Amino acid sequence: MTFYELINSALKERNSAKAFFSNFRVGAILVTENDKIYRGCNIEISSFGLTICAERVAIFKAVSEGEQNFKSIFIASDSEKITSPCGACRQVLWELAGDIDVIMINRKGEYQQAKMSALLPLGFDKSYLGNS
Ligand code: THU
Repeated sequence: MTFYELINSALKERNSAKAFFSNFRVGAILVTENDKIYRGCNIEISSFGLTICAERVAIFKAVSEGEQNFKSIFIASDSEKITSPCGACRQVLWELAGDIDVIMINRKGEYQQAKMSALLPLGFDKSYLGNS
């Protein structure tokens, strides 16, 4: 898929979102090193704290399928503002995907790109745990 096809896929993936409470749909497309695609959408649960973001759905799906190396993630929402991943997702993406490219997209398909290390400077990870 081309860069623009990936942007459109992230926008399309919003259609799978379960956003009954916020009405804020998010779609994420995670790209592996071998150009395999994993899709994720936000899934809201009526016990609100159980809600999960689109980015974490995509990365957990990929890791559970045995993927370990990633290139980029495309994240699109319903907002006029370009959508930036929440703090929890930054931590999870940093630990499981490393310093990937993050393409943040608004509802019009306008985007901004940044490295994970720029979105989570001095990020905590297993290298701090003293056994590596
Ligand atoms: N959300 C995401 O899916 N990704 C983000 O990076 C920010 C927030 C979802 C969670 C919730 O379902 C809705 O957007 C409003 O916060």
